[in-house]
Amino acid sequence: MKIAVAGVGYVGLVSAVGFAHHGHMVTAVDVDAMKIAGLTAGISPIFEPGLEALLQEQLAAGRIQFTTDSASAYADAEAIVIGVGTPENEDGSANLAAVYQVAHEIGASMQQDGLVIVKSTVPVGTNDKIEAIVRGALRSAVDVDIVSNPEFLAQGSAVYDTLHGSRIVVGTESATAEAKMRDIYAAYGQPIVSVSRKSAELIKYASNDFLALKISFVNEIANLCDILGADIEEVTEGMGYDPRIGNSFLRAGIGYGGSCFPKDTKALHWLAEDHGFLLRTIEATIKINEKQKYLLLHKLRQEMPTIAGKKIAVLGLTFKPNTDDLREAPSIPNMKVLQKEGAIIQAYDPIAMAQTAEKLGDASIMKDSIEAALEGADVCLIFTEWDEIRAISPDTFKKWMANPIVLDGRNCFNKYEMEAAGIAYQSVGRPLAKVRQLQ
Ligand code: UDX
Repeated sequence: MKIAVAGVGYVGLVSAVGFAHHGHMVTAVDVDAMKIAGLTAGISPIFEPGLEALLQEQLAAGRIQFTTDSASAYADAEAIVIGVGTPENEDGSANLAAVYQVAHEIGASMQQDGLVIVKSTVPVGTNDKIEAIVRGALRSAVDVDIVSNPEFLAQGSAVYDTLHGSRIVVGTESATAEAKMRDIYAAYGQPIVSVSRKSAELIKYASNDFLALKISFVNEIANLCDILGADIEEVTEGMGYDPRIGNSFLRAGIGYGGSCFPKDTKALHWLAEDHGFLLRTIEATIKINEKQKYLLLHKLRQEMPTIAGKKIAVLGLTFKPNTDDLREAPSIPNMKVLQKEGAIIQAYDPIAMAQTAEKLGDASIMKDSIEAALEGADVCLIFTEWDEIRAISPDTFKKWMANPIVLDGRNCFNKYEMEAAGIAYQSVGRPLAKVRQLQ
């Protein structure tokens, strides 16, 4: 099928490459000419394992092309996918300006019957508005169906998630549209959940918010473990065997970040409130996460009342490993506080060095290796569990730091090994206690 994709961000680009991989003829559109030129040359604008290789394979096969000429791309497409961003407004609601603009352009450009597939995460009811905009802008007598088709890919595993997803959610209001969607996804071999458009829109938010809630819940229990002397990893191991609970998304830490959970929890909370309904679980999820983000700072203040003049090693900066994305990464606001209070920051990340320097307005804090970041440090804070960071031996901390205090926000190390090596080690929900003496 001939498919046009609007937007080459995470959702748009990975979906476009996925469609091409499954044999469709894809034209991806973006207003950013630099990105389009790079993509045409086989260069991905985002760091995502496996994406560039798949992109180059599909370019070579002639199944994908990139353009800024949206009108031509939409004119003869059988399906047009909207994959542009829906960032957060000041009040937490979703900003739909880009989605609506693209919808208008699509209506004005369509010259044959087709589907408009909405992949951007949009509040419940937005597909109805998109339908009105597209129909209102039509210049030819064509038949158009709007379909909600939310995306569940996670950064760092986006290609895998697209090609091996757990389900494809298809929200349609007509049998023709549903049949066409089944055609598009026939080769994917994933279960298709066919529902109404509004349900599809809500499935996306409810899924993300449930995962965020799971994380906030486990972080609260971890904080309780710190008080009571239990260990969160032992607790979640025991919980996870129950198939009703499941063993994923139970990793305690310094909270969720990224481009989805923070935005989507606030957007659903705002949407419900706008309808006079308070989503109490989501409200709690958001509040817990806001506080959890600063847990290391809280622990740091207990270790050393004055931060000014202290050398602080910061390891791992992105919101999670295997991505260069710093959106809502806990490292950034924490480092801003440290900066403001006069700490000497020595930061390292395997990939997001330049972006961090730009965000903090100071390139001198970035060090080009773990050892350089640890050198002479009074304390080390860990924000992201990159493999390279998890592989640091206790001896390395001892060797390079002036004072081996390690505050680990992602539970990267064996607490007993760290303790045995003479490191003052604190993690999340894993208080140090004597190794159990099993009889
Ligand atoms: C998420 C969803 O997983 C994906 O389905 C959706 O389409 C977009 O949002 P993403 O934001 O890329 O994907 O990353 P994810 O792996 O879900 O992690 C989000 C945040 O939660 C990260 O900051 C991560 O560190 C944190 N997290 C995740 C935890 O703190 N504990 C966990 O157990 C899991």
